[in-house]
Amino acid sequence: MSFPKDVLQVLSDNQGRWITETELCESLKASAETVRDLVQVLQESGYQVESCPERGYRLVYQDLLTPEAVTPGLTTRVFGRRDYFYYREIDSTNNRALELAAEGYPEGTVVVAETQTAGRGRRGRSWYSPPRHGIYVSVIFRPQLPMREVPRLSLVIGVAVAETLETSFHLPARIKWPNDILINNRKVAGVLSEVVTGTQGIDYIVTGIGLNINNPLQDFPDDLRTAPTSIMAEMEITVSRVRVLQQLLMHLENRYYQLLEGDFNGILNKGKILSTVLGKEVEYDTRDGLAVGQAVDIDDNGFLLVKDKSGKIHTVTSGEVYLTSPTTGGEAD
Ligand code: BTN
Repeated sequence: MSFPKDVLQVLSDNQGRWITETELCESLKASAETVRDLVQVLQESGYQVESCPERGYRLVYQDLLTPEAVTPGLTTRVFGRRDYFYYREIDSTNNRALELAAEGYPEGTVVVAETQTAGRGRRGRSWYSPPRHGIYVSVIFRPQLPMREVPRLSLVIGVAVAETLETSFHLPARIKWPNDILINNRKVAGVLSEVVTGTQGIDYIVTGIGLNINNPLQDFPDDLRTAPTSIMAEMEITVSRVRVLQQLLMHLENRYYQLLEGDFNGILNKGKILSTVLGKEVEYDTRDGLAVGQAVDIDDNGFLLVKDKSGKIHTVTSGEVYLTSPTTGGEAD
């Protein structure tokens, strides 16, 4: 018996090329009628399968983030290997990952969507999530870390996202503490981590990453607090979202295991090299409102150290920092 996924497999293996109905029937050991029914199911599920009586069928390349497209080229050991949840549309991948984590799904569970109807950003903001242009992915972590070390995970994520863009696409991606990712002072990715604690400390953490990939600049809403960009806008070509996701999951897993193995220093050093705030004047949140100082270092917990005018060092443990220098491009966030 054949299933739609079997037809999809044959079509994907021959992506872009026509396969005659006879060839499909032979490789699936199915009748022409069954093949036609299965192709129709795929078309109704949104796959762009072209059919032509003389030539047969072919799959139009769509760069969807389906498990069939992503997992074959995935080089991770755990992340996305066992549990990969894919949605054409969802409210928020973080919401779904939080539900799955509460149900007991393991570390490395990945939730991906082509579009989000209620994508969430930090501080109650929304995340612009148009279909098929970006990557909207959430990962479940179950680290055995004391609460005070959670910011270390933040740096892990920031480094993994930035180095994905740096190593795979030669883009000068930089981390704006704690983990916004900027290219030439424009935001290309944002991270929302949500920690759930139990009686024993951290129960699980869901980290959601939104990456702008093939978005034309003019499509972004005007009211974004930080000037946005996308990989396509920076490289002037469209790139494979499948490849970006595979690379991202690989870097995330590598850096996360580096943290668990006790080498936070290696991550910290890379994080400092990739930081866009160190050495710059920043505004940062305090209990009494915004204060100004110079970002001088990131400490062993992943906190930002800021020196005020009197030379006193303040540890910024949460919230956001705002670059003030005009040489930074006037980042408005
Ligand atoms: C920010 O910069 O404010 C954080 C943005 C985080 C967006 C991602 S997209 C995938 C995941 N699902 C969500 O609802 N939000 C995160």
